[in-house]
Amino acid sequence: MFIKNLCFENYRNLKNSSLSPAENINIIYGNNAQGKTNLIECMWLLTGGRSFRGAKDRELIAFDQEFARVKASFFSTSREQTVEILIQHNKRTPFLNGVQKNYLSEIIGSFCAVIFSPNHLTLVKNGPDERRNFIDSALCQIKPSYAMFLSRYRKILNQRNALLKAIQKTPSLIDTLDIWNERLAGEGSLIAFHRYAYMKEFSKLSSQFYQGISNNTESLETACRTGYHSTSDMPREEIKHCILNSLRRKQEEEICLGYTIKGVHRDDMTIKINSKDAKSYASQGQQRSAVLSMKLAEAALLQKSKGEPPVILLDDVLSELDSQRQDYLIHRLDNFQVFITCCNTNISAQNKFLIQNGEILRTE
Ligand SMILES: Nc1ncnc2c1ncn2[C@@H]1O[C@H](COP(=O)(O)OP(=O)(O)OP(=O)(O)O)[C@@H](O)[C@H]1O
Ligand SMILES: [Mg+2]
Repeated sequence: MFIKNLCFENYRNLKNSSLSPAENINIIYGNNAQGKTNLIECMWLLTGGRSFRGAKDRELIAFDQEFARVKASFFSTSREQTVEILIQHNKRTPFLNGVQKNYLSEIIGSFCAVIFSPNHLTLVKNGPDERRNFIDSALCQIKPSYAMFLSRYRKILNQRNALLKAIQKTPSLIDTLDIWNERLAGEGSLIAFHRYAYMKEFSKLSSQFYQGISNNTESLETACRTGYHSTSDMPREEIKHCILNSLRRKQEEEICLGYTIKGVHRDDMTIKINSKDAKSYASQGQQRSAVLSMKLAEAALLQKSKGEPPVILLDDVLSELDSQRQDYLIHRLDNFQVFITCCNTNISAQNKFLIQNGEILRTE
């Protein structure tokens, strides 16, 4: 998959223009505050995802304008297609091949990309939510029905939590709790089963990428961490059984608290570098290399499931990496269309674009 042409109108500070990138590595360079991240962000929006900077829709529209538009023609499944996002009235409207869609979820999976930005270092640094979201969003791009499993789980969880609170006031309601234990364990086991299957391949690939980036001098290990059992190679029915048991065991405590403490909504991923917890011990460069390896593994798995490589968007990835790690990145990704932003001009690549004050100039 690759972008043949990208055009944007009233998008943040970018001057209305279009860009025809190369099918492999594209370097976007320029001084601070010129529009490099804005360019990466507008490409990412075409996947149907939210701004990775957590921006509100109206913040994406250039100051003093009413709307913004981003459109790309891209090559996928052996044909040229178009995807467009119109941002207006504080919402984003998607169009696929010229046809307006009601929901952004309807275009997820059409134009596929993997994004790395310095914000993603929170994957290592922050709590479990971000790591769970990472696996869940990766799975949603591969298997759109996974989003439905998540939303069903969330509804059951809310209902069970409401019941736990109700039991505090009306203890006889405890008779109905086991129905919700069953439902939560059933839907949860479906999610856990897909997460385990994904993590199995993901762990192998991210550790291979990490070895490459560190020139075989360091190792990366990632694994699922759950509160209901310890082995991951289990059929779905057995996972359900484990979740159900742990729900029943904790039920008294959960009634006192009024919410559910066991289940897939509390899953986490461990990330270790050289067998040590990355959050507590890894250096900045190591954490960056780990997140990058995880993103590349995500891209490789997306490629495997779609039968074609996603576009890779790397915002400000090169800073904090030594020249050998930078070199590995630039050369290892030659079979993907890649956009890499950076401030310096001394990176040797065939396709370079300079951004100055929102204006993009092809320089090589
Ligand atoms: N809605 C908007 N309208 C106009 N300009 C905006 C809007 N939102 C952000 N900007 C401006 O866009 C400029 C470029 O931002 P961007 O984050 O793309 O810079 P950058 O080139 O990535 O810089 P750095 O190297 O520091 O990361 C900023 O100066 C910002 O003020
Ligand atoms: Mg930037």
